[in-house]
Amino acid sequence: MQNSVSKHLFLRAAAGEITERPPVWLMRQAGRILPQYRALRQKFPDFKAFVKTPEAASEATIQPVDELQVDAAIIFSDILVIPEAMGLDYEMIEAKGPRFPKTIRQASDVAALRSGADAAADLDYVYQALRITKRELNGRVPLIGFAGAPWTILAYMVEGGGSKTFSNARRMLYAEPELAHALLQKITDTTISYLRQQIAAGADLIQLFDSWAGELAPAHYQTFAMPYLNQICEALPETPKTIFAKGAWFALEEIGQSTCQVVGLDWNTAPGFAREKVGPNKVLQGNLDPCTLYADAPTIRQETLRMIQAFKGKHIVNLGHGVYPDTPLDGVRVFVDTVKAFKW
Ligand code: CP3
Repeated sequence: MQNSVSKHLFLRAAAGEITERPPVWLMRQAGRILPQYRALRQKFPDFKAFVKTPEAASEATIQPVDELQVDAAIIFSDILVIPEAMGLDYEMIEAKGPRFPKTIRQASDVAALRSGADAAADLDYVYQALRITKRELNGRVPLIGFAGAPWTILAYMVEGGGSKTFSNARRMLYAEPELAHALLQKITDTTISYLRQQIAAGADLIQLFDSWAGELAPAHYQTFAMPYLNQICEALPETPKTIFAKGAWFALEEIGQSTCQVVGLDWNTAPGFAREKVGPNKVLQGNLDPCTLYADAPTIRQETLRMIQAFKGKHIVNLGHGVYPDTPLDGVRVFVDTVKAFKW
């Protein structure tokens, strides 16, 4: 057993313990901010081939731990492996993002999708990457597993990619709510099976990314997002969980009632407001504006310290969204080093 890792700062903080300083990691830390990532990426014809090579995915996972000394690793993969395993193939287009040649529009499309353990069995390359990473990390830092939240995955499957309005996905919620629920349930069943296997392969904490949460009206978040997030959290009772619902300041009270331990925040949400809404028990994670890291070193230090003081503990330091790929590495280093030097 990796007992050492359960005593690690990141997991103690996630469990709500008072710690000597807050832990720090960055969403999208395994990626293009690192020259060693860009070098490794060049060995593959495309992003998907990279993600599907467990040794390479493991190397990319560990790079930011070596380079930046962050307090947690996050497995190098993507949220879109779930639609693919369910039978909806995607392409990752260089400098543009994901695109699904076929999208979900009607009941027969949903019926044709695979789901649950059957679909999750396709993702053995992720479980292998976790096992290799766990072995290579050798207890140095905990390993975060992740998945997209069901609403965000539905949004990609219906839109076929990113969107300015997500009006096709939101339209389905109004025009064909039963179809939306059937799709959300299939995504949820697959995600639960997927995350159970991530945990069996060594993930110490699970983060759910609801990147498009802010697109929904509050009542729709209650109907089409929260019940599925709750199903996932309740299916994984033994493992700490983080819900990061970007833009969902209006749903913080309900997220606060879920069984997750950690609530991720974007930079639009004030720490005091979030604490009041989620209540005293949850740990908060975030939420520096990623653009802060383009500033000079004294500004980054000042803003990072201001954020830590504003959260007043029960806090894991992170950005309010993934680090932008062209962020200067020195800015990232100042951010991480400022947190690591901090003492209450
Ligand atoms: O370090 C980490 O955080 C782990 C790896 C990780 C990636 N994607 C790698 C990646 C994680 C956790 C994700 C999650 C993800 N993927 C989300 C949720 C988080 C968020 O940002 O809201 C979303 C919405 C996606 C979908 C996705 N994947 C998009 C829109 C893009 C294109 C945009 C971009 O940054 O290029 C990706 C590609 C992607 N996923 C890259 C990486 C490192 C870039 C691929 C490359 O090397 O060119």
